[in-house]
Amino acid sequence: MKVQGQAWRTVWLNPDHSVGVIDQRFLPHELKTACLREVADVEQAIREMWIRGAPLIGVVAAYGMAVAMRQDSSDAGLFSAKKTLLATRPTAVNLRWALSRMLTGLLPLPREQRADAAYALAAQMADEDVAINQQLGQHGLALIRTLAQQRPGQRINILTHCNAGWLATVDWGTATSPIYQAFNEGIDVHVWVDETRPRNQGASLTAWELGQHGVPHTLIVDNAGGHLMQHGLVDMCIVGTDRVTARGDVCNKIGTYLKALAAFDNQVPFYVAMPSSTLDLTVHDGLREIPIENREGEEISHLSGWHADGYLSTVRICPSNTATSTNPGFDVTPARLVTALITERGLCAAHPQAIQAMFASVG
Ligand code: MRU
Repeated sequence: MKVQGQAWRTVWLNPDHSVGVIDQRFLPHELKTACLREVADVEQAIREMWIRGAPLIGVVAAYGMAVAMRQDSSDAGLFSAKKTLLATRPTAVNLRWALSRMLTGLLPLPREQRADAAYALAAQMADEDVAINQQLGQHGLALIRTLAQQRPGQRINILTHCNAGWLATVDWGTATSPIYQAFNEGIDVHVWVDETRPRNQGASLTAWELGQHGVPHTLIVDNAGGHLMQHGLVDMCIVGTDRVTARGDVCNKIGTYLKALAAFDNQVPFYVAMPSSTLDLTVHDGLREIPIENREGEEISHLSGWHADGYLSTVRICPSNTATSTNPGFDVTPARLVTALITERGLCAAHPQAIQAMFASVG
């Protein structure tokens, strides 16, 4: 996507074989980049959320394997890099998917070919991510277009949670891809952006990227969505996902489940944008089988923000002895609350048979 006229992706290869990324910790205040030279840098960037979002985590981890192969291309080096990177974040399945694909591609090769092959495979995965999100967006666009045709002259209001935008992928985003494509086509869309406590990815990332593209949007507190739905102010919800199970349960940023409940109660369609790399056919019951990341309590007890003169400051918002250790980063929305999955292969019911029929070939 473009920022002030310049085309960006979230991850790229530098001429010296280091990996460039947008360092999301500084947005929306500053568009900064980081240079990842060693596998330890990639590990830190994923774990500390310099980069985040399921598809991007996968692609950056793939590049992490490539960087690792320059350091040590032995079998031991390969397995050790995979283990290190896999341990960075537990919930988004794209990480395991990308690392397994790298291992499968590299292990049969002679040592001296592994580094070049790893960079080529990571680049291929980055390009595929862009194509998949673009294609997925076409299917989501058809939904928005139909709604716009049914209600000529009316604005289409879409609610989204967290950041499933281009910053969370290599480009286009998942949940935002249909929105960008509808906007580009001249459809009058407006986005309700959930702030997404505790880390505020909606406020700092989704609002920023929609604004850069000129898409009308309004930032709302996480608790406002149900009220807006009750008053007919939301035409559809589109969210991203970190893992979808074989039976269609959807794991996504904490708070997604409450939005799905409110949508169900108000007959608002609830769509989940899911690239096939986020489907985990090895798990069925999302509630019991998906590991949910628990992050530091400081995300709850403190608020951070940028001062106008450019420095980050953090303030405590609760008594110093208040417990804040329960901080699940994700929740699971049961399949029955999901209207449909928007995938690169088309719309898919969040139902085991439909998922099996459409994705039997996904490993
Ligand atoms: O903790 P994060 O910021 O990595 O969580 C991101 C989300 O939950 C996104 O909605 C999800 O990864 C989909 S990204 C296209």
